[in-house]
Amino acid sequence: MSSSIAQLRKFVAPEIIFGDGSRHAVANYAQTFGAHRILLVSDPGVLAAGWVAEVEADLAACGIPCHRFLQVSPNPRAEEVMAGARVYRDYGCDAIVAVGGGSPMDCAKGIGIVVAHDGHILDFEGVDTIRVPIPPLIFIPSTAGTSADVSQFAIISDPQRRMKFSIISKSVVPDVSLIDPQVTLTMDPFLTACTGVDALVHAIEAFVSTGSGPLTDSHALEAMRLINANLVALVDNPHDGELRAQVMLGSMQAGLAFSNAILGAVHAMSHSLGGFLDLPHGLCNSMLLEHVVAFNFEAAPERFIRVAQTLGIDCRGLSQQSIKQRLIAHLVELKRAVGLAGTLGSAGVRSSDVPFLAEHAVEDPCILTNPRRSCLRDVAVVYEEAL
Ligand SMILES: [Fe+2]
Repeated sequence: MSSSIAQLRKFVAPEIIFGDGSRHAVANYAQTFGAHRILLVSDPGVLAAGWVAEVEADLAACGIPCHRFLQVSPNPRAEEVMAGARVYRDYGCDAIVAVGGGSPMDCAKGIGIVVAHDGHILDFEGVDTIRVPIPPLIFIPSTAGTSADVSQFAIISDPQRRMKFSIISKSVVPDVSLIDPQVTLTMDPFLTACTGVDALVHAIEAFVSTGSGPLTDSHALEAMRLINANLVALVDNPHDGELRAQVMLGSMQAGLAFSNAILGAVHAMSHSLGGFLDLPHGLCNSMLLEHVVAFNFEAAPERFIRVAQTLGIDCRGLSQQSIKQRLIAHLVELKRAVGLAGTLGSAGVRSSDVPFLAEHAVEDPCILTNPRRSCLRDVAVVYEEAL
């Protein structure tokens, strides 16, 4: 009985409109949800890129006023969520649109939780803590990587504890995700690389996760193929619309996979690191990736061999050990090719920081689905190797 229950898998996804120009459906959806006043969550970088004004104009053309909330840090903070919730209430909003990367989208999820419950965002850490429906969420991602626009995750920073915490619930899957590759054209090559590697990590971690299954495997494998085939070329040609669309599609596929299969030690360790040093999420993942693959490989060799094959490595006639080495070399080379060759040490992490980082990483929900069971000492050793 218990073994059959362990085999059960669910799959949750938002309504998705994918393709160039899909962002312009925002007003139609706002009307469908009966919205009278929108809280528009974004950040200064996305404002400067022009996307905030465009969304406002689309909404205004349909007679829907909105109020901006732009005070969102690259790693959104608990107090920013609370400030956004106050703005939502003060202006009598009844729906939330987020345009931006993972930070505005995660902040928007947090604002939705707070206004629905009339509580503090810190009270909702963990899995399935949301008790009442939250306001309609319409998301327009401006990066191809975080997949906050399709996922059941909201990741919020708590500067008091110098850590990030996760809220995992079906309730924070947006009602609709308008995935428009044109909106990613304003990303610079560094952000393109960070978010693209984040998406690749989502696909790999979802595929080797203990929560993986047929419903997520196909998305994870297709995501790996698309990102591996297009990310390096995109970083070299950031204005190429077709490459943008291919990487965006890969990112979306990775998001559908990881939202449902959950993640692993790269993200558990990266959340701890990002909360401690306020570094970009994709960069944190990148610095940890091959070290976690080396740690995990023997726990799920058949899965990692499929990963290697999907990334174009010819595994015929090779020993398991050789495949592991080639997979790690491939990941290191891909990172180098997109300009992400740094180590934890070069990012300012010291050996004396490792105990703090490891302590929080083993408390992160993502560690639970890592293919190899990971104790405090294991995680500390992987951090040391990544220094
Ligand atoms: Fe991620």
